[in-house]
Amino acid sequence: AAAAAAAAAERELDPVTCFLLSTYDDVRVSDDELREKDAIMNLLKHVVHSVRPEADIVAFGSIQSGLALKNSDIDACILLPDIGEEMEEFASECFERFTALGFEGKYLRKARIPIIKLLSDTKNRYYYGFQCDIGFNNQLAIYNTSLLHQYSLIDPRCKQLAILVKYWAKQKRINSPYYGTLSSYGYVLMVLFYLIHVVRPAVLPNLQDSPHKQDLYVEGFNVGFVRGTTVARRNTESLPQLLAGFYGFFAHEFNYRESVISIRQPGGLLKKVDKDWTLAKEHTGSADQVIKDRYVLAIEDPFEITHNVGRTVSKAGLFEIRGEFMQATRLLNAATLHSTSAIRKLRA
Ligand code: CTP
Ligand code: MG
Repeated sequence: AAAAAAAAAERELDPVTCFLLSTYDDVRVSDDELREKDAIMNLLKHVVHSVRPEADIVAFGSIQSGLALKNSDIDACILLPDIGEEMEEFASECFERFTALGFEGKYLRKARIPIIKLLSDTKNRYYYGFQCDIGFNNQLAIYNTSLLHQYSLIDPRCKQLAILVKYWAKQKRINSPYYGTLSSYGYVLMVLFYLIHVVRPAVLPNLQDSPHKQDLYVEGFNVGFVRGTTVARRNTESLPQLLAGFYGFFAHEFNYRESVISIRQPGGLLKKVDKDWTLAKEHTGSADQVIKDRYVLAIEDPFEITHNVGRTVSKAGLFEIRGEFMQATRLLNAATLHSTSAIRKLRA
């Protein structure tokens, strides 16, 4: 971090940018930790192959999108198409072999689709925190992870903002989907929405709205997006300007009552009424639990467009989240003002 701060100072960056970049460097996952996670995935792959040669296990989520913080969990998914009835047997066999290797965890068999949670490594082989959630055949999550990854490659400020906002949400305790606030994935979609559809000139193009996109249908949803192009960026705002703009927009401008945050929609404009996302609905989840779909904060998944990523957010949760957006706006604006006047004084 000290090196990054020094490098930034050399490039004559303003103090707020230096502060944000050094925080970014402190909180994001290191290459060393990513290598360790990679080795863990290879070990798990080995186990899964040994149960069924045609099965595979892949990582998704932040480890894969490049938007991970330090000591991040591994989100993984076992792929074994057309398994049907034998799923239960296959999953419990995998779990037994993971346990035999020295991992401790839980196998949640109540769910219609099993989930394996590996919570610790009894052999203490790993330097960084170890936790791994393993699901089955969750193809859409793999595609949405690669969309996030593609966006993060277009402009370095995208990755910096997403990681800073995720870290901030965890610090402020407004990143608890089980307790009425929003998942990390939800915050990242809000950042992308700001960079694609709000700030002008835009920082990011809409990768799902382009003649160069190839349509591809997975589980009934179009997961096509433009891959592998870097687009010239006209926006030259600094990191603090973008961050302040993001917080300011979601603190004071976004119409939470009527609008839906949608990154794929051309123009980004979507209304709750148009999607029939107005009254909370209940449905049965894969573990036969009752899930309440709320629409207090409406964030459309980029591919699974019937899914509200913000469905976990309660009225009280949104109140808290907006309060933090307002507080962050005030702090950032004050810091920017303060530092420019400090620099002016220094130069005078
Ligand atoms: N995901 C999803 N739909 C949701 C929540 C999550 O499809 N409503 C998938 C996405 O592929 C996402 C992944 O699950 O990338 C992990 O979600 P989450 O843990 O919220 O994001 P991470 O970036 O992994 O955050 P953290 O570093 O906090 O684990
Ligand atoms: Mg994760």
